[in-house]
Amino acid sequence: MAEEKNQELSESQRILVSVAWPYVNGPFHAGHISGVYLPADIFARFQRAKGRDVLMVSGSDCHGTPITIRAEQEGVTPLDIVERYHTSILGTLDALGIEFDLFTKTLTDNHYAVTQDIFLKLLEKDFIYKEVMTGSYSETQGRFLPDRYVEGTCPFCSNPKARGDQCDNCGNQLDPVQLGNPHSKEDGSPVTFRETEHFFLDLGKLQPALEEWINSRDRSYWRDNTIAYTKNWLERGLHGRAITRDLEWGVPVPVDNPAFKDKRIYVWFDAVIGYLSASIEWAKRTGQPDAWKHWWSLDESGQSPARSYYFLAKDNITFHTIIWPAMLLGYGGLALPYDVPAAEFLNLEGEKMSTSQNWALWMPDIQERYQPDQLRYYLTAIAPETRDSNWTWADFVSRINNELVGTYGNLVNRVLTNVYKNYDGQVPAPGELDESSKALLVTRDETFARISEMLEGVHLRDALKEALSLASAANKYLDEKAPWKVIKTDREAAGTTFWVALQVINTLKVLTYPFLPFAAEKLHSYLGFEGGDGTTESYSGQEKQGVIAVRPTAKWAIEEVPAGQALRQPQILFNKLDEKVAEEEKERLLASRKS
Ligand code: MF3
Ligand code: ZN
Repeated sequence: MAEEKNQELSESQRILVSVAWPYVNGPFHAGHISGVYLPADIFARFQRAKGRDVLMVSGSDCHGTPITIRAEQEGVTPLDIVERYHTSILGTLDALGIEFDLFTKTLTDNHYAVTQDIFLKLLEKDFIYKEVMTGSYSETQGRFLPDRYVEGTCPFCSNPKARGDQCDNCGNQLDPVQLGNPHSKEDGSPVTFRETEHFFLDLGKLQPALEEWINSRDRSYWRDNTIAYTKNWLERGLHGRAITRDLEWGVPVPVDNPAFKDKRIYVWFDAVIGYLSASIEWAKRTGQPDAWKHWWSLDESGQSPARSYYFLAKDNITFHTIIWPAMLLGYGGLALPYDVPAAEFLNLEGEKMSTSQNWALWMPDIQERYQPDQLRYYLTAIAPETRDSNWTWADFVSRINNELVGTYGNLVNRVLTNVYKNYDGQVPAPGELDESSKALLVTRDETFARISEMLEGVHLRDALKEALSLASAANKYLDEKAPWKVIKTDREAAGTTFWVALQVINTLKVLTYPFLPFAAEKLHSYLGFEGGDGTTESYSGQEKQGVIAVRPTAKWAIEEVPAGQALRQPQILFNKLDEKVAEEEKERLLASRKS
């Protein structure tokens, strides 16, 4: 395999933005958005603006015990749960302007077919084998129980309420057979252990190929934690992993064997296949059923036609740097991940989020009260990109008011309203530029180059910070030049200053477009340009059944706002927040907390 470096891409390069499939057992919370969905959208918007051919896919992860447990708790079917939260999730994506080419579900016929095809090919190539293992069985319910449904005493810390998969008290990973007094979590009935046959993915056999893939490439652009975590796993040695379960909710096992009639493919095996199946579904829906191959199919020399980026949180790393790549290597002919920008966790008011204690910021709630760009701004400014980070309402209010409104919004507002009022609503013609004007434009050019590089490397937080510092530089320039005073004695000199400021603002529009698309779209119009990417129109994901049309986008370039161009009546881009919001929100949060 050839060395692969994170060198400059050609403009026509294709980019696959693969985004982790959320379990649809609840609405999105701020941690999901800040760590995964928003970064993916920012990156995709940047790449589309650069003119690259981007395919961004994901969907609802509908199988697995997170869904069935919730359904059983509520006495409804898993499908009811899926429908409810799939709709909720689409609503959040819509409200925040997170635009997928396709956000589907793992319940489609297409997904089942692709999953079964991969299973069968891996079986045929001997990367899947069958083995008898011990399963937890409830005599009274007459069925095998998933590990999470088994409860008992932890062998490490004696916690009597340890779960079959892990102990929440000491954090150890467990196997149900290790528990003392194992019983069903639901009805307390005793659990016995019975033999049951399952299929296993032979990760041991795939280890050499995986190692070659990891080692033969320059992975220096991977985040440190991701690479360390992956190498650690490889060093410990890989073993077969069961990829079927004794369950009724999941993709049927495509073998002609009555023993497997009541078994299903394990949720993680089918979920990672979603990236591929969604690409295939997208292609079918666009009427070019082979189009997915432009992002997936290797050429004869084994070269990938695209770069695939996988956005996810740190608890999902292994599945994306080991298991999915192993499945792809075993299957053959398909592109492996190029980068796996995994996020850390977002805390809330200094404490770990907990959905069971309702210590979380639920998106359907907060998206009602704040502008999407306010949320996008703060969630990016504090994104858990390389370490766990923290949302506090006091910080939210202060950063919206000081940075988004005070620095960026204020710059745009004071320049546009002044020019609109004093120059007949037209961009003034510049005279000769003085040193400070030239210097600001140089800063603008350098910032543009730096931000482009940061976004290419998925350093989104730093890129946003750079954009804000360019806005600060422009504010400082305006404060020094005071064109609103100068205009009274020298209209042309003031016009030159405003012209320079308008150029910087137009570049800021492009630079902030991936982060603040709603504001960028408005600003584009106020500056007198036609068209936009349509971000401010709702794409109504539900009506389109999850297909989200991606519109033509802003162009990633420094472009001039020509003198004489007619502006449109400007309006405020971002709302300022009342200082008491911080207290109110924090109280609301504390009031809804469960112990
Ligand atoms: N549903 C899993 C979770 O919420 C993520 C699945 S990501 C995919 O943790 F790889 F399976 F797609
Ligand atoms: Zn324990």
